[in-house]
Amino acid sequence: MLLLPPPPLRLRHTDSTVDRSEINSPPPVTHGQRAVDLKQPYRSYLEFSKKYGSVFTVWLGPKPVVVLAGYQTIKEALVNQGEEFSGRYNYPMLKKVSKGYGLLASSGKRCKDLRRFSIMTLKNFGMGRRSIEERVQEEARFLVKAFSEYGDSAFNPKLFLSNAVSNVICSIVFGQRFEYKDQRFQFLQHGIDAYFSFISSSKGQLYNIFPRLVQCLPGPHHELFQHLQKIREYLKLEADQRMENLDSNCPRDYIEAFLVRMKEQGDAASNEFHYNNLLSSIWNLFSAGTESTSSTLRQSLLLMMKYPHIQERIQKEIDEVVGSSRMPSIQDRQNMPYTDAVIHEVQRSMDLTPTSVPHKMMTDTEFKGYCIPEGTMVLPLLTSVLLDPKLWKNPDGFDPENFLDEKGRFKKNEAFLVFGLGKRACVGEGLARVELFLFFSSLLQHFTFTGAQPPEEINVTPACCSFGRLPRVYDCYVKVRE
Ligand code: HEM
Repeated sequence: MLLLPPPPLRLRHTDSTVDRSEINSPPPVTHGQRAVDLKQPYRSYLEFSKKYGSVFTVWLGPKPVVVLAGYQTIKEALVNQGEEFSGRYNYPMLKKVSKGYGLLASSGKRCKDLRRFSIMTLKNFGMGRRSIEERVQEEARFLVKAFSEYGDSAFNPKLFLSNAVSNVICSIVFGQRFEYKDQRFQFLQHGIDAYFSFISSSKGQLYNIFPRLVQCLPGPHHELFQHLQKIREYLKLEADQRMENLDSNCPRDYIEAFLVRMKEQGDAASNEFHYNNLLSSIWNLFSAGTESTSSTLRQSLLLMMKYPHIQERIQKEIDEVVGSSRMPSIQDRQNMPYTDAVIHEVQRSMDLTPTSVPHKMMTDTEFKGYCIPEGTMVLPLLTSVLLDPKLWKNPDGFDPENFLDEKGRFKKNEAFLVFGLGKRACVGEGLARVELFLFFSSLLQHFTFTGAQPPEEINVTPACCSFGRLPRVYDCYVKVRE
């Protein structure tokens, strides 16, 4: 089998004299070109930003990509000129899976309609029914039960955490959670796992550069595409069943709420509420919501094993505020500044998506004296903000003090950009924050976590793959707290 290496990445400084034709064709190879570290491209971008400033171009093969670095520049782009920067660039893999439908891959009116609907549904789901908080608490009970079955043996918590997080999305999308052994649940989970394994593999990265070539090669992607197609068919079946008995006054889940909109808006050409957008948006919620939140939980448990004194201090706070006879609730968060600070610091220090999700210019745009043509891919370099020494007390280490004031109260920092910023910021932020707090505090309420190695030997630096920085694989021991 012949695998071609990706073409070398080439860097070029965008200066104010760059015109449309220049930015759209690869520059000649010049003396000043630098290679990008393909394993950790965000690190190279960080270095480049020191030399070339807060707006510069890198060439990914034949494609120019504009990188934005630093809080002010990212804010000016994504907030002050938010409309122009609000497009979503579709990598071939995203194009293949979404075909431009659904809230993550779309741009313009489609994206606006689907975002507004999804944010509203995720925030206020239920209209008098069970709140998101109750759904997460219910799942946290199952998670605690699953962990407690391990007794004295070491185990890898990955599967349990992603099952729990994914089940919360099931509860919102389908109106019910599943038993972890349920075949439908495993079928969905397998699809999500296979998707992330492929996009983080070298073949997945190659697909994004030479989709037609990779399409012709043997490999796991053929099975993956078939699996994703079956998931689509399954979701369509679920939607059809709900459509038959739809009570428009009382939608019980995300699918039903979407179908009500579909009926209300009818066949108008401008109506974005149709099956293609429904099925892709559901997939977006699962794929964007599962790996991100469960990886953050995995990293937070790893850090507890590394820093037992931090774990102890959180447990003390839990004992004082929640006690042991009830589950933590979201209201407790305001009385638990240390736990809140630790969760924020886990997210800041792990820097899950160093280059966010690629944006696309909606129109030719003047930005900070440069001309960026319509359609250009733009990467907001979140790392440059999350690790900026001017914005954090201790940017390089893991230090909850980054989020505490001198009196030990929780201290917000507007540079906490882990969920992005502006018109394409994460639609699941509210849900993710509820999940992180409730799952994490429920686990530490019941268990003390220790590693298979002594703390000083535990490596907490996330490993970088194409879509983010993920925790290293580990086993843990759980000791039930008296
Ligand atoms: C720790 C957890 C999470 C982190 C760190 C995270 C981070 C992000 C980031 C950085 C973006 C891209 C923002 C941009 O394009 O500028 C994003 C987009 C998105 N996230 Fe999250 N996310 C998390 C959890 C979730 C959850 C739980 C859901 C769903 C329930 C979700 C759904 C989405 C969707 C659908 C988008 C695309 C929004 C759009 O294209 O307009 N995320 N997220």
